[in-house]
Amino acid sequence: MSHPSSANSTNIESLLVENRVFPPSAATVSAARISGMPAYNAMCAHAERDFEGFWADLARANLSWKKPFEQVLDETNPPFYTWFADGELNASFNCLDRHLGTPVENKNAIIFESDDGKVSHITYKALHAKVSQFASALKDMGVQKGDRVVIYMPMTVEGVVAMQACARIGATHSVVFGGFSAKSLQERIKDASAVAVITANYQLRGGKELPLKAIVDEGIALGGCESVKNVIVYQRTPTACNMVAGRDSFMHEVTAKAAPVCEPVFVGAEHPLFVLYTSGSTGTPKGVQHSTAGYLLWAKLTMDWTFDLQPSDVFWCTADIGWITGHTYVAYGPLAAGATQVIFEGIPTYPNAGRFWQMIERHKVSIFYTAPTAIRSLIKAADADAAVHPDRSDLSSLRILGSVGEPINPEAWMWYYKNIGGERCPVVDTFWQTETGGHMITPLPGATALVPGSCTLPLPGIMAAIVDETGHDLPNGAGGLLVIKRPWPSMIRNIWNDPERFKKSYFPEEMGGTIYLAGDGAVRNEDNGYFRITGRIDDVLNVSGHRMGTMEIESALVAHPLVAEAAVVGRPDDLTGEAIVAFVVLKRSRPVGDEGKAIAKELRDWVGKQIGPIAKPKDIRFGDNLPKTRSGKIMRRLLRGVAKGEAITQDTSTLENPAILDQLAENL
Ligand code: WTA
Repeated sequence: MSHPSSANSTNIESLLVENRVFPPSAATVSAARISGMPAYNAMCAHAERDFEGFWADLARANLSWKKPFEQVLDETNPPFYTWFADGELNASFNCLDRHLGTPVENKNAIIFESDDGKVSHITYKALHAKVSQFASALKDMGVQKGDRVVIYMPMTVEGVVAMQACARIGATHSVVFGGFSAKSLQERIKDASAVAVITANYQLRGGKELPLKAIVDEGIALGGCESVKNVIVYQRTPTACNMVAGRDSFMHEVTAKAAPVCEPVFVGAEHPLFVLYTSGSTGTPKGVQHSTAGYLLWAKLTMDWTFDLQPSDVFWCTADIGWITGHTYVAYGPLAAGATQVIFEGIPTYPNAGRFWQMIERHKVSIFYTAPTAIRSLIKAADADAAVHPDRSDLSSLRILGSVGEPINPEAWMWYYKNIGGERCPVVDTFWQTETGGHMITPLPGATALVPGSCTLPLPGIMAAIVDETGHDLPNGAGGLLVIKRPWPSMIRNIWNDPERFKKSYFPEEMGGTIYLAGDGAVRNEDNGYFRITGRIDDVLNVSGHRMGTMEIESALVAHPLVAEAAVVGRPDDLTGEAIVAFVVLKRSRPVGDEGKAIAKELRDWVGKQIGPIAKPKDIRFGDNLPKTRSGKIMRRLLRGVAKGEAITQDTSTLENPAILDQLAENL
């Protein structure tokens, strides 16, 4: 474990001088579900006073139980905590059936806008019917409670239907982002021993038709996927795709043949609803395992609390279902809360960079939730072309804005607040992780005074703290490690197939083995105790809000026949937050000039093939060697400096060959 990297210190300094404060208006406070700081403080005090009672009340009030629970939190086998374990319920029932016979049933669940701008609507009743019939089809194929199903789908209604249908029959889904390669997909299918893969023939993004089914075929052909008995294909476009007889079928055909009614399979509260793979600092991606009840409870509650959801809201979270944000705030939270949500198939820059703003106007979006990376790139586009500036769209329907995935720099925050929110809409900067299931530290729109660049305060019941490496509390103003001291219902339950790694990664022995280590550095403001996240403390990069492990990229690089050794670091980037820089030693002589450029391109494409385009290094630097300590450890801190173009001030006398630093500094 290392200290917050020096790369973050300038960031901290610029944040510390941030002194603008934006309290909520009196009207916002009085209309909000959590109305004012006294209401927030009272909830926190309730959780402090009667932790289990606090959560039990919420779980009874916000979920429909087939069998009510008696047990709340079980801490007898830390860190394998359980919540509501003797209760039974079904997630799909809670998202769909629960609304039938209420005014929500005829409300739009989803407003879908396709890549090419076609709009369709689906009510809760119609979505319930669609999910039920597809769930019957899965059952007909023999998919059973507890089986794993991999979903490799575009952003479509069918993607959500696939997830909900799995939940309905108690199958555990594992969604793989459509940008991951055949090899990444194969690794996930293998690790999860999936019995079925649900995919689409193609996906439409930015006017392009991109294959998905062909990648599934390629992934399965890599071997080790014998568990897969069925591949179900959503026909997104008329273009034909290869179909393997006896294994592959079309979603519309199997659905048409299936019974329209599918009784939900009720499962224990701790039944794994899904496994979602994410990058860690070492080794292969980790299958983050989530529960049914605790996860769903928090998905629903954070919709109500963080977004102050009201019945007339139109909610739009721009995240893909391949990431945790798309799980909690597209596939589950909005449905559990009975919201109307927008789902968008395409990309923010097609057919032009005004697409998001035009869509907010078109669908009268009132709550908009996106990533700082998107905001920063749209600021740039709006500066360059007045035709795509948000002032060309009517954004008056907006009432709350949200940010997720990476720290939002105060400049981008201010632009978002002014140009999108018209200085009227609170910006909720939500800090959380794949492992936390839902928001952890975030402002509440009707209570918290906002400070640009700060995620402010933990939600009620979330016992966040900043500690040193032995788990001791640090005073406000001192930077340290972000931890959560008590379990919470939506926390990660395990790493699929790897309980030892689960313990080691998140519950370090040095801290007693019971408190959750987030993997981020943070500091609390001395005056108001507000949290600021200073970035990852491990070898995980955050590129455009996507988590990437440096080790994963290094292993991909050294798998190339030309590569002897590689080290990957992050470099701050104005647009993507961090950019990937790879330092490479080849088995042959160090290439220069055009040859170097050609090999760099080949390696970049190779990484794209091995992991996915999001993992392609922005820069590749070649050297005769890498800088190492006497004991042979790669000096990553030095490489981070070289990647940033900094002058080397560190002592380099231990280096075998200091000249290699000049080589590595050379950009091709
Ligand atoms: C970072 C995404 C600062 C953080 C929901 C975390 C943030 C990682 C914020 C998790 C935020 C996420 N401010 N940093 N509001 N939100 N992060 O698992 O480093 O894809 O550990 O979950 O993103 O990324 P993940």
